[in-house]
Amino acid sequence: MIIAVDGPTASGKGTVARNLAEHYGLKRLDTGSLYRAVGLAVLDAGGDPADVRAAVAAAEALDLDAIDENRIRSSAAGLAASKVAVIPEVREVLRRAQKAFAADPRGAVLDGRDIGTVICPDADVKLFVTASLEERTRRRLAELRARGEQISFEELQAQIAERDERDMTRKDSPLYQAADAHLLDTTVLSIEAAAAAAYAIVDRVMAARS
Ligand code: DC
Repeated sequence: MIIAVDGPTASGKGTVARNLAEHYGLKRLDTGSLYRAVGLAVLDAGGDPADVRAAVAAAEALDLDAIDENRIRSSAAGLAASKVAVIPEVREVLRRAQKAFAADPRGAVLDGRDIGTVICPDADVKLFVTASLEERTRRRLAELRARGEQISFEELQAQIAERDERDMTRKDSPLYQAADAHLLDTTVLSIEAAAAAAYAIVDRVMAARS
């Protein structure tokens, strides 16, 4: 079973994907972490994430097993990620890694922006997870504050809106809800309620197919 989970940043898609993977015994790939790792590698090398050459070189050198899960969660890495993600050559390199992951016959959960539309258009179940901009800003603010990052609500909300805009309007693989994706709005849902809603969608889709 392949489950595709797409949605904007801080929508809860990562948490939903993690719970789905655990619930159904599937492995999971957080595809945003690949773009974050590439963006961070460019920043670490003192480069500009919008520089095609630097970003492609970082994507080609990426080692999935060596990603620093803590450092890629910074707001700087997130912003750099959304910049390298507009570069088609970077997407091409990362697309190969994602498709290889999804080709595992044991199945998988992948979450990102273009999983149901580009990476796994034939996924068994597609979810589009969203939440209001305000709620997403609140969640990300709590995450960043827990990391010790100081940023105001207004500044972060503007950053998230900027990233949404870049993710939705880029030419290559923009973020949008696939026609056959099921919408899950987590704005007023707890983590447990969002997970339960996701399981209900998956169970319903799989029952209808059998
Ligand atoms: O989900 P996230 O915040 O970790 O994603 C970071 C950036 O990576 C996001 O701004 C866009 C990019 N991304 C993408 O373009 N395609 C994906 N499948 C996943 C993430």
